Amino acid sequence: MKEIPVILFGAGGVGQALLQLIVNGRSRVAERNQCRFNIVAIIDSKTWVWQPEGLTDAQLHDIIAAKKHHLPVDPAWRQEKLRDQKRPSDTEILEIAHQAGLKQAIVVDVTAANGMEPVIDQALELGYGVALANKKPLAGPWQTAQKYFNHPLIRHESTVGGGQPVIATLRYLLDVNDPILEIEGQLSGTLGYICARLDEGVPFSQAVAAAKALGYTEPDPRDDLGGKDVMRKIMILGRMAGWPLEETDIEVESLYPSALAHLSVTEFMAATIALDPPMRERVETAVSQGNVLRYIAHLEKGHGKVGLQPIPAQSPLANLKYISFRTACYNDEPLLIGGKGAGVEMTAAGVLGDMIDLVRETR
Ligand SMILES: NC(=O)c1ccc[n+]([C@@H]2O[C@H](COP(=O)([O-])OP(=O)(O)OC[C@H]3O[C@@H](n4cnc5c(N)ncnc54)[C@H](OP(=O)(O)O)[C@@H]3O)[C@@H](O)[C@H]2O)c1
Repeated sequence: MKEIPVILFGAGGVGQALLQLIVNGRSRVAERNQCRFNIVAIIDSKTWVWQPEGLTDAQLHDIIAAKKHHLPVDPAWRQEKLRDQKRPSDTEILEIAHQAGLKQAIVVDVTAANGMEPVIDQALELGYGVALANKKPLAGPWQTAQKYFNHPLIRHESTVGGGQPVIATLRYLLDVNDPILEIEGQLSGTLGYICARLDEGVPFSQAVAAAKALGYTEPDPRDDLGGKDVMRKIMILGRMAGWPLEETDIEVESLYPSALAHLSVTEFMAATIALDPPMRERVETAVSQGNVLRYIAHLEKGHGKVGLQPIPAQSPLANLKYISFRTACYNDEPLLIGGKGAGVEMTAAGVLGDMIDLVRETR
């Protein structure tokens, strides 16, 4: 049985779900894949826990429970000890792991943090595998991000499609040399929810407020409404497909005007009422032509567009979180992946699948 040390950056919704999956599935994963994931470090934004021989399942349960209450991972911090001691930086943590003799470890980035590139670079230098749900390192400037694409020690299934096998499918198409001609999809569960409420005649401001109240949006809904997260997803797929895309190659329609960018979240939520009449007009125009509005990402010939589009109300795609690939082989009928694809459990399952794949890669 191969013991795989795991260094986990991020213990939010996805990180907690991943820990739970690892603990719950220990025997089955071990039996099927002949490996056991040994969580040696968990890092959140302020604290960390480190146990080179691996945290016990009881300790992992304790950490999951603490993070559910938005408490730091470090028990000493929670017991009011060591509160003024700063944790080592993310890269120092990898150095500590290296000094402790950890070999063939897997570094998991399930943060939403900017600036994780030095951590990834260092992990790769140490020969560690890297599994990402964090899109940002793959969606930075091409010059920096290029080296992460098709790297044998990097997996990132959960960056697009929330656990649906989108990256694996694209990788397969590329492996068999089926050129990608066009990529399209509804890539945001949050915006899909808001569009479905608009179909029902709910004003935009109320649809956004409902999505926020249900926890579907980021704490600041502008992070979803601005379209940048969707842009990052289509950029990752396009870059995999062979287009060296930069942000300027993808037009993004934000669902709020830049004049509302500097408001507090509360002010912004109040200001969304002013967006109701123009949005109602767009919805009514779409409906009068037998359409519904959906937030679609589209990429062809190295140029992308992300924004609201009318699509036929009767189309099976109207209510499906899907991604389609038109390729040389799948030309007249694109290859379609569709399904639930949202939520922390499925995202975590995608990360766990990546970790297992990395173990196979290094065998
Ligand atoms: N939620 C989904 O359904 C979903 C689907 C697909 C992809 N993703 C992606 O998965 C990632 C995680 O999502 P999430 O919903 O779990 O986010 P989240 O709940 O906001 O959790 C982020 C975690 O990262 C920690 N963190 C922030 N900066 C860090 C740093 N520099 N080093 C170490 N830890 C750091 C945070 O610490 P604190 O706990 O101290 O704040 C928190 O534990 C994101 O990139 C997201 O885009 C999420």
